[in-house]
Amino acid sequence: SNPSILILPGDGIGPEVMAEVRKIIGWFGDKRDIQFDVSEDLVGGSAYDAHGTPLHDDTMAKAQEVDAVLLGAVGGPKYDDLDFSVKPERGLLRLRKEMDLYSNLRPAQCFDALADFSSLKTDVVAGLDIMIVRELTSGVYFGEPRGIFEEGNERVGINTQRYTESEIERAARSAFELAMRRNKKLCSMEKANVMESGILWREVVTRVGAEYPEVELSHMYADNGAMQLVRWPKQFDVILTDNLFGDLLSDCAAMLTGSLGMLPSASLGAPMANGRPKALYEPVHGSAPDIAGQGKANPIACILSFAMALRYSFDQGAEADRLEKAVEKVLADGVRTADLLGEEGVTPVSTSEMGDAVIGALDAS
Ligand code: NAI
Ligand code: MG
Repeated sequence: SNPSILILPGDGIGPEVMAEVRKIIGWFGDKRDIQFDVSEDLVGGSAYDAHGTPLHDDTMAKAQEVDAVLLGAVGGPKYDDLDFSVKPERGLLRLRKEMDLYSNLRPAQCFDALADFSSLKTDVVAGLDIMIVRELTSGVYFGEPRGIFEEGNERVGINTQRYTESEIERAARSAFELAMRRNKKLCSMEKANVMESGILWREVVTRVGAEYPEVELSHMYADNGAMQLVRWPKQFDVILTDNLFGDLLSDCAAMLTGSLGMLPSASLGAPMANGRPKALYEPVHGSAPDIAGQGKANPIACILSFAMALRYSFDQGAEADRLEKAVEKVLADGVRTADLLGEEGVTPVSTSEMGDAVIGALDAS
């Protein structure tokens, strides 16, 4: 049978960018005879509207069965006042937690055509190609105790940074495996200077690193890492870090590449019975309520997320390259959505026109 994909478009611009990915999935079926069994369901605010929960149990069960989940984005002002337990983001967190997607891969790659557009100097970002591996299922977003408690005559908000050795170890292993397939260079970031969890992190990463003698391992405090990412990002290849620092560092790396609308991600877990890792692919950006419904969203982050699915879930590395080259070609040709416009005098294309341009470049490939 064909490999299966569950599409969860979500809220805001999620459905808009996902529509372009569906075109591209269709193209691979028609032109390359690479077929997928595609199903679609609700997540986030749209699921809350339909079911009163940001992720229905049936959707959760489906996500566990498919070979890959593609997610758009969740959230929006309409849902800001909802109880924390049913907020759209809880749907996404539940997917990540129950699928046990502990390794979040976030490439920060600067296409040549956009090197001038980055907020940094061209020579700092031109040719940039780094990969941040963020631990995704533990740390301060999940650690107990957590909550808002009474303490004396005021309240205290508590979250706990907590990492077990095995949690650090599996994240580290996935980063070292990736480093072996790339340039054999790994920098691990924590704050071992002020946090015990950071001391343990550094110790475990060093221990796992001994199994990968070919990989050049270095350690850096995460605050310095943020500075170095802006100063000279090309010093890095693979960066391994925890959930919280990874959230910040990858958003920081996002600006190196020009726009949030360009950044894909993969979240991988343990291998399933068929050998494929549990996997969820999504753009890094959110639901962008400020531009939702206007056909302005850049679909490239979501399209490149599908390219990562081709590479990491479906063993279609050559087809992933083909898709990434098509995106590169379109950008080199000067096709720009509004978020990629620096200079005046260029008319932006719409979300669907960008998708069509990528299809055109695929046709020509
Ligand atoms: P955001 O990523 O939605 O938007 C930040 C800025 O980037 C906005 O100005 C937006 O217009 C722009 N932008 C984002 N993606 C774009 C694209 N593809 N093309 C063109 N411009 C794009 O982050 P924000 O505004 O902080 O959050 C909005 C909502 O999204 C909130 O409800 C938030 O909770 C949710 N969110 C969801 C995420 C997810 O589903 N993984 C991640 C981040 C935020
Ligand atoms: Mg973030």
